Amino acid sequence: MAGLEVEKISGVGRSTLERLHSAGIYSVEALAVLGSRDLSILTGLSEEKCLELCLKARKMLQTEIETADKILERRKKILRITTGSRNLDRLLGGGIETQAITELVGEYGSAKTQICHTLAVTVQLPPEQGGAAPATALYIDTEGTFRPERVKEIAEARSLKPDDILKNIYVAPAYSSDHLAFLVDEAFKFAHQKNVKLILVDSIVGRFRPEYLGREALAERQQKLNRILSRLLKLAEAYNLAVVVTNQVISQPGVFYGNPDRPAGGHILGHNCLYRIWLKKGKDGIRTARIFDSPYHPEAETQIQITQKGIEDPPQKKEKENKESGE
Ligand code: GTP
Ligand code: MG
Repeated sequence: MAGLEVEKISGVGRSTLERLHSAGIYSVEALAVLGSRDLSILTGLSEEKCLELCLKARKMLQTEIETADKILERRKKILRITTGSRNLDRLLGGGIETQAITELVGEYGSAKTQICHTLAVTVQLPPEQGGAAPATALYIDTEGTFRPERVKEIAEARSLKPDDILKNIYVAPAYSSDHLAFLVDEAFKFAHQKNVKLILVDSIVGRFRPEYLGREALAERQQKLNRILSRLLKLAEAYNLAVVVTNQVISQPGVFYGNPDRPAGGHILGHNCLYRIWLKKGKDGIRTARIFDSPYHPEAETQIQITQKGIEDPPQKKEKENKESGE
């Protein structure tokens, strides 16, 4: 749960508190990461009042300028959630990081949704097993592909209690890009109340593509997408939770050299996502995962397999590893 409550801010009256609460803002941390404009839209309070609140919150948290040791202290709280595949965990430096957005990009059937289903289960594991328990997952489903039956299968294959696992996954269908934006705003309240440690958005661009057609709609679409992503990042930082978004690839006709495919959503995703993982289809449920476009990590790739457990390492890799470790 987040630390300082908004009640602790000096000079905040009951009606302001009620407005903040009804907008889902309970913690000083959540308030501090919001801009006064966003806050005004969310609460209906004047921008002037909101600016005052944001400044007070930031002062309380001293977030304007931080010394490096404070940043290090916050970064020490970063959790890494296992994907179910040790190969993929290694590629990600130990698992999916909290306080950041990870993007899974790939063509249809490349295992994006399967990874999301697996993560909704593994986040509930105890920390020593790679989870963030006690934790819940919020699954924002824009494509209607969430399947509780598949979660049940993954939980059973991992010797977990499926009923408990299913109860800790909150599923929110998103019917339009506006609805998606609304759900992300609502998540500020929800993450606090339900101790959400993982937000999955499958997919981030799906609802935008049919709604914003043509070049003239591009700027508006990108602004809206950017706002959603920056709000997701704020959520990740304010509540020390992980955000995973899936993205599709689009083919560029007329490209003869190099890769004709590129991720949808343009540069906006690259700017907001710390890890970008490109998934490619192989045989027998094998998928190649490659880290790309990262200023912090070298390009590298590995293999995963889709199984009853959701995703895990392919068998040949496991054998090779065991041999190497002398098992
Ligand atoms: P799009 O959403 O269409 O862009 O694709 P995606 O990347 O989300 O693909 P998804 O994760 O749905 O992967 C689909 C692949 O996973 C299928 O080709 C199946 O091979 C496999 N798959 C789907 N459901 C199951 C399942 O219940 N068990 C197993 N073992 N494999 C499954
Ligand atoms: Mg999918």
